Amino acid sequence: MSGGPIGEPVGSAAPVADWVIPQELMQDPYPTYLRLQRETPVAWVPVLNKYLVTGYAECHAIELDQDTYSAQVQGSGATMIRTLGENPMLRKNDPEHAVERQAINPTLRPKAVQQRWTPIFDRNAEHYLEVLAGADPDSAELNRDYAAPLASQNLIDLLGLPNVEPDTMRRWSHAFIAGTGNLHDDPAIWNAADTARAEVDALLDELIPHYRAQPNDSMTSALVHSGLPHSIVAANVKLTIAGGMNEPQHMVTNMVWALHHHPDQRQQVADDPSLWPTVFDEAARWLSPIGMYPRETTRPVTLCGVTLPAGAPIGVVVGAANRDPNHFDVHPELFDIHRRKQPHLAFGSGVHLCAGHWAAKASIGQIAVPSLLAKFPSLRVDHRRVSEWNGWVFRGLTHLPVTWDH
Ligand code: HEM
Repeated sequence: MSGGPIGEPVGSAAPVADWVIPQELMQDPYPTYLRLQRETPVAWVPVLNKYLVTGYAECHAIELDQDTYSAQVQGSGATMIRTLGENPMLRKNDPEHAVERQAINPTLRPKAVQQRWTPIFDRNAEHYLEVLAGADPDSAELNRDYAAPLASQNLIDLLGLPNVEPDTMRRWSHAFIAGTGNLHDDPAIWNAADTARAEVDALLDELIPHYRAQPNDSMTSALVHSGLPHSIVAANVKLTIAGGMNEPQHMVTNMVWALHHHPDQRQQVADDPSLWPTVFDEAARWLSPIGMYPRETTRPVTLCGVTLPAGAPIGVVVGAANRDPNHFDVHPELFDIHRRKQPHLAFGSGVHLCAGHWAAKASIGQIAVPSLLAKFPSLRVDHRRVSEWNGWVFRGLTHLPVTWDH
C-alpha cells in the first residue's frame, strides 16, 4: 500500500462499491457520499462504470494534475462533442485549453463584472422582481417565475445573443446538459439537443461575422476576436449556454432554501448585508449545483492507496468533497455561515476553475437573492405544495413553491 494521495502505482486494487444505487443518488446523494468517504474515498462503482473520488484532498489533487488526470475523456467527452458539435475548452488540457480560456477571461474578471455587468444584472433582477410581484402567492414557483428567467437573461446579455427569449435560452441549456449526459443514447434527448444545436448554430452563423465587423464587450465577441476558428467559437458559446444558466438558476433556489430552513441566519444577513458573499459561498458548498465532473487517467497512478490503471474513467465528486469531514472541521453536513473560512470545490479548481464564478457570485449572491428577500421579506417555502430536488451530477430544486404575505 502506498501513502499520500498521489504517487507511483504501488497501491492496492480499488474497493468495489457495488451497493451504490443511481436512483438513491438522484434523490439524495449525501448518504451515499458519506458512506463512500468512510469506507473508501476512491472506489470502483460498477453501476456507473466509473471510479468515484469523494475525498476533498483527492479531488483537489486531481484538479492540480492535468497531466495525469486529463479533462479529455471518453464517454461524456463523446456525448459532449455529439451535443455541441465540437470539443469546447472544458474537455481539453493545456496548452490547447488555455488559448480558449484566455479568450473569455477578460470579459468575466471582477472589474468587468463590477463595471460592465453589475448594472445589467441589477436591471434584469428588477424586471423579474416585478414579474414575480404579479404572480399569485398561492401558486408561485421560484424556479419558473424568477430564478430561471433571470439566470437566462443574465446569460443572454453576457454572451451577447440579441433577440433570444429567456425561455429559449432555458430550453437550449437543458437540452445541451441532457445531451452531454446522454450516455444511454435516448433518442428523445438527442432530438432536443440536435434541435437546440441547429438553432444556436444558425444564430451564430449570423452573429460571428457580425461581431467580427462590429466588436462589443460580450463573451461571444471576445471569442470571435481571439482568432479562434468559427467552430471553436461556436463550441464554447454552446458550452457556456449549457453551464452558465442551469447552475446559476439552481444557486438562486438553493440560497432561498438554505435561508428558509435557517431563519436565524436569514435574520443575521438581513441585519448585516455584508454577509451575503459568505451566504453565497456556504450555500454553494452545502448544496453544490455541480456534484460531479469527469476526468480520465493518462497513466497508471496511485490515489489514496488505490491503484488506477491508465485510461481509468473518474468521477470527481465535488458535491461529496464539499462535505468531507476530513477537510471541513465542524459538522460539514450543516449550513453554517459562521464556520471557519475554508476553500470549497463548488466551482472546481485548477485550470478549469469556473470561468463565470465572479459573475455568478455578483449576479446571484449580491443581486438576485438579496434583492428578492428585500422586496419580499416574508417570502418562504410554501409547504402546502411539494418541493422537488433532483440529480447528483447536476443537482438542484426543479420545483420550489414559494409564498409571501399579501
Ligand atoms: C453557481 C453557478 C455556477 C457553478 C456552480 C459553476 C460550476 C462550474 C464548475 C464546477 C466548473 C468546472 C468543471 C470541470 O472542471 O470539469 C465550471 C466550468 C466552467 N464554467 Fe461554471 N459554474 C457556474 C456559473 C457559470 C457561469 C455564470 C458561467 C458563464 C457566464 C460559467 C462558465 C463556465 C465555463 C466557460 C467553464 C469552463 C472553464 C474551463 O474549462 O476552463 N459558469 N463551472
